[in-house]
Amino acid sequence: MTVITGWENSTGQTSLLAESVHVWAWGHEDLVTSTEPDISCLDPDEIRRYRRFRFGPDQLRFATCHGNMRRILAGYLGQSPAALVFAVGAGGKPALVDSPALRLQFNLSHSKNFGLLAVAPALEVGVDVEEPRKIEPSLAERYLSVVELQMLSELEDGEWLPGFLRCWTRKEAILKAEGVGLRLPLDAFDVSLKAGTRPALLGVRPPAAFRFPWQLFDVSPAENAIASLAVSGPPASINLFCYRTA
Ligand SMILES: CC(C)(COP(=O)(O)OP(=O)(O)OC[C@H]1O[C@@H](n2cnc3c(N)ncnc32)[C@H](O)[C@@H]1OP(=O)(O)O)[C@@H](O)C(=O)NCCC(=O)NCCS
Repeated sequence: MTVITGWENSTGQTSLLAESVHVWAWGHEDLVTSTEPDISCLDPDEIRRYRRFRFGPDQLRFATCHGNMRRILAGYLGQSPAALVFAVGAGGKPALVDSPALRLQFNLSHSKNFGLLAVAPALEVGVDVEEPRKIEPSLAERYLSVVELQMLSELEDGEWLPGFLRCWTRKEAILKAEGVGLRLPLDAFDVSLKAGTRPALLGVRPPAAFRFPWQLFDVSPAENAIASLAVSGPPASINLFCYRTA
């Protein structure tokens, strides 16, 4: 049985038990767009991506997410944020290169107002955060499985959007944990979506062949954000932290 604790304010952690997962969240609502973003710890590739954004708020969000990701990961590794080297796996998933003491797994997700980072020493993780917005039913029909569409059709009108977003973030968290991006067919696996039911991977059909029996958890950081975490096995604990810069 996984113990879930949080949300607790923290400026960073240095210890992470094996078989546990830490999830860090921060908000973008308070960012002051007139402030020059701090890009001092980003690498040349991140700075190139940062400069490609045409609008100040997008630049600020990118700099905040990547700066926070570096600061949090560096805290576990006892390194400076700027010293971390990232590589991208075959499916596009970023990974740390040469994390000597600890082979840290992590995954980042961001929405308009929130950033989320999952970190684990032994288990593989994927995370996704989404905020309510207008969703056309055709989007659900295009991406979800027959089983999921049936479950959605049984929901009351006001429950449709949260149900869709729970489904979407659970599927996306699994795909991000697998690290394969769009290469797996989205309708070849089913996840639960009804309020009050356990987040779960309900079924997998060929050609989807997952490396792990993904465990799903609700890690929504606020009422107006829905977030899901996929973990490669049942973690002993999940600790939720609101990241505060020191
Ligand atoms: C790459 C992808 C996983 C990003 O998802 P997203 O919801 O747009 O964005 P998120 O904010 O959740 O995640 C972005 C972060 O994930 C990480 N990431 C990028 N590629 C990744 C991959 N292949 N696997 C895991 N993580 C990845 C990066 O850290 C990225 O942050 P950055 O762009 O600032 O460097 C997405 O484009 C994708 O392929 N999604 C699956 C397909 C889909 O349509 N799913 C719908 C589910 S119903």
